[in-house]
Amino acid sequence: MRALITGGAGFLGSHLCERLVASDWDVLCLDNLVTGLETNVAHLLNHPRFRIARQDVTRYIDVPGPVDFVLHFASPASPVDYLKLPIQTLKVGALGTHNTLGLALAKKAKYLLASTSECYGDPQVSPQPESYRGHVNPIGPRGVYDEAKRYAEAMTMAYHRAHDVDTRIARIFNTYGPRMRLNDGRALPNFVYQALTGQPLTVHGDGQQTRSFCYVSDLIEGIYRLMQSDEHEPVNLGNPQEITILEFAERIRALTGSNVPIVFKPLPEDDPKQRCPDITKARRILHWEPEVSLDEGLPRTLEFFRREVAASRAR
Ligand SMILES: NC(=O)c1ccc[n+]([C@@H]2O[C@H](COP(=O)([O-])OP(=O)(O)OC[C@H]3O[C@@H](n4cnc5c(N)ncnc54)[C@H](O)[C@@H]3O)[C@@H](O)[C@H]2O)c1
Repeated sequence: MRALITGGAGFLGSHLCERLVASDWDVLCLDNLVTGLETNVAHLLNHPRFRIARQDVTRYIDVPGPVDFVLHFASPASPVDYLKLPIQTLKVGALGTHNTLGLALAKKAKYLLASTSECYGDPQVSPQPESYRGHVNPIGPRGVYDEAKRYAEAMTMAYHRAHDVDTRIARIFNTYGPRMRLNDGRALPNFVYQALTGQPLTVHGDGQQTRSFCYVSDLIEGIYRLMQSDEHEPVNLGNPQEITILEFAERIRALTGSNVPIVFKPLPEDDPKQRCPDITKARRILHWEPEVSLDEGLPRTLEFFRREVAASRAR
């Protein structure tokens, strides 16, 4: 079986490449490295079943040979990235999704779209079930990501309905773990970097907004099970354990053994106040739920970040 993974040199994509290679898949990763790093898959480069090609998936994609599964993970994903790359983000959600669906149709391959909880915007219900239609500001700064993914979901369902492509949609909630970039602007790398370099931790707003964090191995297991299922409508994948951003900052500060102060900055526009998945559907159809608690996942991630900070100091 041969899988094509777009965005395979990114944080989630690289873990997915690793998982599929370990499960005897041939993997071709397409990535333009706009936010990913080849070092994320360096350990796979000499593997006979792994190949990476530098390619922008918003342009025409030609892949010789058979493909059994297309997994579309390419997209800037952190607010810092997609605010810096608004047009590329819209293009990879729109043209990238169209091109990869076209490839799946031509190759008679199955398809999985990496969508996001950001489809729910700043939600008015919590936790968010898949049936919730969302509360997104299309013209706000975050709209470039939220609307790109909503369009990508619509295009995926259109290919399923019009061309009978065997599609799946994962609505991924905040995920963390090794290979996140220290400077990607998400809460976890920010807090860890600040704590490890002796800077105050910056919390936006009063810190009472909530998030839920899923460890990367749990998320990849959920994706793997969704690949095997025949569910075509979106499935939430995330950890329903909710925590306020302030509590999260305090936990990271304690874990790093730092005593830097916590400072408060204004909340960015359209920042969601609550983010918590309802995973009833994933439990029922995939028999999946997260197993790694923050107590286990945070130290593993911290170990990775300590090495990254040491390496960046040595450079
Ligand atoms: N990490 C999370 O918590 C999270 C949550 C929800 C959804 N997602 C989704 O999962 C996917 C992966 O996210 P991530 O956290 O690994 O982000 P990431 O930035 O680490 O990885 C994205 C990868 O896509 C590549 N890419 C971007 N545009 C491209 C293009 N036009 N052509 C080819 N490659 C391109 C980047 O170079 C990078 O390697 C994204 O689609 C994201 O929207 C992630």
